[in-house]
Amino acid sequence: MLRRVLLSLSRSDRVRHLVETAPVSRGVVARFVAGTGPREAVAASRRLVDSGRLVSLDRLGEDTVERSQADETRDAYLTLLKLLAEDGLTGGAEISVKLSAVGQALPGDGEKLALDNAFAICEAARDAGTTVTLDMEDHSTTDSTLGILADLRRDFPGTGAVVQAYLRRTEADCRDLATEGSRVRLCKGAYKEPASVAFQGKAEVDLSYVRCLKTLMAGPGYPMVATHDPRLVAITAELVRRNQREQGSYEYQMLYGIRPNEQRRLAASGERMRVYVPYGDEWYGYLVRRMAERPANLVFFLRSLATKG
Ligand code: FDA
Repeated sequence: MLRRVLLSLSRSDRVRHLVETAPVSRGVVARFVAGTGPREAVAASRRLVDSGRLVSLDRLGEDTVERSQADETRDAYLTLLKLLAEDGLTGGAEISVKLSAVGQALPGDGEKLALDNAFAICEAARDAGTTVTLDMEDHSTTDSTLGILADLRRDFPGTGAVVQAYLRRTEADCRDLATEGSRVRLCKGAYKEPASVAFQGKAEVDLSYVRCLKTLMAGPGYPMVATHDPRLVAITAELVRRNQREQGSYEYQMLYGIRPNEQRRLAASGERMRVYVPYGDEWYGYLVRRMAERPANLVFFLRSLATKG
């Protein structure tokens, strides 16, 4: 119930304005967001890479309503890639891109614009020696995003896909995507979705996650296991043994600021452990989705509102 209310709030402009202008301490946002500009994001990446972790950087922003915003997002990624290359970080840091931020939802030729912008980002990433993963958003965008992924993979085969275990379709998508070299990030899914397309209960979502994970782990692709769930991390280790997978033929992924000790533990045990690092001004939707996942995050946020406000 709380999750559904919060996910509705993540789309509310009024609440967004209230929260963004509330005297929230920078520390609250800073726990989950690496900073507002690319230099802060690169500095956070440097710290993570130096600690043995890998990074995927996401410039926050998903409500692109004008072409100029889409182009601005593309240019911001190009700048970010340049800074990462200058800092020698592209071996350990890749990029995550939301297609909605580069124009996918614009009326008319939005999909074409998103493809063109994503193409430019993938090209710059390849030249810098790294890769791009296309984040997955609400279910109305899944077909479009997988279509754009297929187009991009013709020129940039390393482009990563994201699939969401809460969607009923995802098991079939995993079968399609479990091909040689295919980088696939499996997550539970973070949007408010109707029962017609998505499992609603945690147990059902977790079971779907395990089915998808089994498919990806048994295939010839490169699974990216994106979860903080200790049970799913343990199941992954078991599937690694069962499928005789080498360390480095898959990776774990977690969000910036969430279970950092577990991130360090996995990295220290020789696993590839990638941290998803969001940065930018438009942190509201991202932060509210994190609160919807875990009431403790909400309590932390409200407490600091109460003490600083
Ligand atoms: P869940 O939220 O069910 O938590 C399971 C367990 O993990 C908890 O019971 C607890 O034990 C532990 N845990 C979780 N949070 C914790 C915390 N703060 N502190 C301590 N323990 C904690 N979604 C999407 O729709 N599209 C996308 O493109 C992406 N991309 C993405 C990338 C990466 C790298 C990650 C890790 C996640 C995403 N997501 C995403 C978000 C994802 O769909 C999901 O909403 C969150 O990862 C939360 O789900 P969990 O798998 O962690 O399980």
